[in-house]
Amino acid sequence: MSLTVAVLRETAEGEKRVALDPGSASKLEKRGIRVLVEKDAGKRAGFNNDQYGGAAILDDRDALLTMADVVMWVQPPDVSTVNHMNEGSVGIGHAFAHRNPDLVNALNDQKISCLAMELVPRITRAQSMDVLSSQATVAGYKAVLRAASLAPRLFPMLTTAAGTLRPSRVIVIGAGVAGLQAIATARRLGARVEAYDIRSAAREQVESLGAKMIDTGVDAEGEGGYARELTDEEKQQQAEKLAEHLAKSDVVISTAAIPGRPAPKIITTAMVDDMQPGTVIVDLAAESGGNCELTQPGTTIDHDGVIIDGPLNLASQAAIHASEMYARNLVNLMDLMIEEDSLKVDMEDEVIAGTMLTHQGKLVHEQTAKLLGLSEGDN
Ligand code: NAI
Repeated sequence: MSLTVAVLRETAEGEKRVALDPGSASKLEKRGIRVLVEKDAGKRAGFNNDQYGGAAILDDRDALLTMADVVMWVQPPDVSTVNHMNEGSVGIGHAFAHRNPDLVNALNDQKISCLAMELVPRITRAQSMDVLSSQATVAGYKAVLRAASLAPRLFPMLTTAAGTLRPSRVIVIGAGVAGLQAIATARRLGARVEAYDIRSAAREQVESLGAKMIDTGVDAEGEGGYARELTDEEKQQQAEKLAEHLAKSDVVISTAAIPGRPAPKIITTAMVDDMQPGTVIVDLAAESGGNCELTQPGTTIDHDGVIIDGPLNLASQAAIHASEMYARNLVNLMDLMIEEDSLKVDMEDEVIAGTMLTHQGKLVHEQTAKLLGLSEGDN
């Protein structure tokens, strides 16, 4: 019997992406895998049902789930969806379980092997499966375009008959995947870009993109290439230096995050008060509370002439490319498990083990168990 993969239609507000685009669906089909697509799953991303060629289109989610060995999604499914999945089947997509204990319980009840894509280890071998990176790339690009359209200035230096315009000064806070893409995009638009990150390792990448690193004398590189939390003294030192640069900026793109925790508040109200009217802040960290104290997630506000934008789910705004990359990440992960026409979940594989949230009725991801205040293996 061949393997059957089902793709859910996203229901979360504002979510336009789909977990499997027609291109990746046809790749699976060529390998003898049956693909079932919930009706209109790709519609909001720009993919019609008929673009899915050989896939079966089903309107009834429960019927689709009963036929599936593997279910794919972008946003975590609701409990009722999980309840209708086949016992022991595989679920692949975001889970954000540390803020969703009911989902963990439902996955355990159904003995779902849930691969939570946000948990893919940040190791070289897993780069092609890393949804945090692929989606952050899209978000970083879009953040700059938002800033450019909100700003009352142009980005490039222009010499015209009506005079010379100086280039906009853009500061990117957090030079991870999104930040680096923001730097590259702002540079392409002709802005003068400065960047700031607490990991000193980011300097080389920032400079290779033609931006200047702001030096505050604080280095907070933590385990696994992620940032660690700063001490109060370090925060103070960072803040003072940064404030001087922010006061002279035209655009700020902030992307600083600490995995699994609220975003660090880096841009204080006092710093915003010192900024010039017409400055635009696009706070990509709005999703986890924002890097600016004044950010209101999901809205754009005007604080005495400083525009503060807190977009949510920016990747969804370039839904075609975001979906294509997301789908490739999922298929690459699935490739590790496909054996002839069945799936073999190999918990000895560090990528599979690191991504697995629940397996055989247990929460198996240690870090998530800690964040939920449970012991690993608890139901
Ligand atoms: P992220 O989204 O967790 O954070 C974004 C950036 O904000 C990071 O560069 C972080 O250092 C910075 N940051 C955090 N707190 C800050 C603060 N208080 N002030 C200033 N900056 C602050 O990070 P992302 O983009 O998911 O990846 C972080 C790093 O992980 C990458 O730059 C890379 O080195 C590594 N990585 C490795 C991968 C692999 O080997 N497969 C894949 C992706 C990332």
